[in-house]
Amino acid sequence: MPSGSRDSFTSKFGIIAAAAGSAVGLGNIWRFPLVTTQNGGGAFLLLYIGFILLIGIPVMLSEFTIGRRAQLNAFGSFKKLAPGTPWYLVGSLGIVTAFAILAFYSTVAGWTLEYLVQSISGKLLHTQDMEKNFADFSTHPYRPLVWQLVFMLLTAVVVYAGIQKGIEKYTKILMPILLVLIIFVAIRAVSLPGAGEGVKYLFVPDWGAVNFKTVLMALGQAAFSLSIGMGTLITYGSYIQKDNNLLKTSAQVALADTSIAILSSLMVIPAIFAFSVGYIDQMSPGPGLVFEVLPNVFKSMSGGIIFAIIFFFLLAVAALTSTISVLEVVVAYLKEELNFSRGKATLIGSVSISVLGVFATMSFGPLAEFQIFGQTIFGLLNYASANIMLTFGALLIVIFVGWRMRKIAFMEEVSNNGELVSIMFKIVFFIIRYIAPVAIGIIAVAALFIKGITG
Ligand code: TRP
Repeated sequence: MPSGSRDSFTSKFGIIAAAAGSAVGLGNIWRFPLVTTQNGGGAFLLLYIGFILLIGIPVMLSEFTIGRRAQLNAFGSFKKLAPGTPWYLVGSLGIVTAFAILAFYSTVAGWTLEYLVQSISGKLLHTQDMEKNFADFSTHPYRPLVWQLVFMLLTAVVVYAGIQKGIEKYTKILMPILLVLIIFVAIRAVSLPGAGEGVKYLFVPDWGAVNFKTVLMALGQAAFSLSIGMGTLITYGSYIQKDNNLLKTSAQVALADTSIAILSSLMVIPAIFAFSVGYIDQMSPGPGLVFEVLPNVFKSMSGGIIFAIIFFFLLAVAALTSTISVLEVVVAYLKEELNFSRGKATLIGSVSISVLGVFATMSFGPLAEFQIFGQTIFGLLNYASANIMLTFGALLIVIFVGWRMRKIAFMEEVSNNGELVSIMFKIVFFIIRYIAPVAIGIIAVAALFIKGITG
């Protein structure tokens, strides 16, 4: 049962910073540029934006609505709003998904710290063979583990400090810094000689590259990028004040996330073209782009060391504001459902996730041979969480709001008890009840059969 009074965000900007901080992460900077260029450029972008508007914002609003109405963690929210039903299982799924996501996400987040240090020390730009450099590091028996644990520790420190003094405080400082740095690097990248080709490659629609799988990938990427489908935004929603306009907040967060994804592409793709250091169509959305190709770009660029340091710093920051949002899902659950103190919940949550995370990291090295369904532990956690658990989570969340919570309760919550009036509320509810479940349902089922949708 809930213990004590609830912490909450203090300002509108704090809410946006925290939620956009969750949304903007490795998904934007690492994955989006590559997926976009490999799937028809402008055509993929249009599909992606369509999904953000049609599905992303409605699901985000659904999560905020559930959380703010119940004033509880993801698990407790379903229990409170649908007592005596199995709906709380959607909350349980969210907690399990949080474990799976954070376990593999912290592997990559840890790598960004190693690369930040290698950039600062100058080692990175003196490296002859970037592929070997990455392989040596990622397969090392303990170096990547140390960085992963450091990253988990940073995450835990912020979460332990609470909502106002931790999550809100840090995201309010870090998100503006992140935005400024991304704009700075993007401007430099697009002004490189030869970058124009890359910009074209990125934005000119190639409708020939669009097929059913592209459509699925656009939705999967949109869901992962907005952090929807596992109760992160239910948890954050429970910290949003009662007078906040939830629909407006959802739209602003989605806008920030999409803008940063596009800016990230401008930061990454044109530079690769300018220095012809990689073949985009042959790259897989694995570590290669950020940890092998980009370091080569930095090496060829004047002032590359500065850009390398800035880039890996901003990647680490983007990852951190996302990992805290995932850990908070587990911490809020332990705190409110099992009556742990925030300290104990943070300790138990982060340590148990780290244990799983160690296996994900080791699956690049000592455990590379250990495979389940033909995938390494990292691959499996990535695939199962992003492709399957998140899509089913998002599906169940819209069904819950559209068919269980129903229109009256939804309208009451989004209009702040009738204070806000907008035709959009009705339109969004219609989408939540009819359109989103069908669209996500098709994707969720297809995701079970098609490999590598968001992985
Ligand atoms: N959205 C983040 C990214 O793009 C990742 C993330 C954070 C996430 N919290 C989440 C994804 C919750 C799904 C659910 O990198």
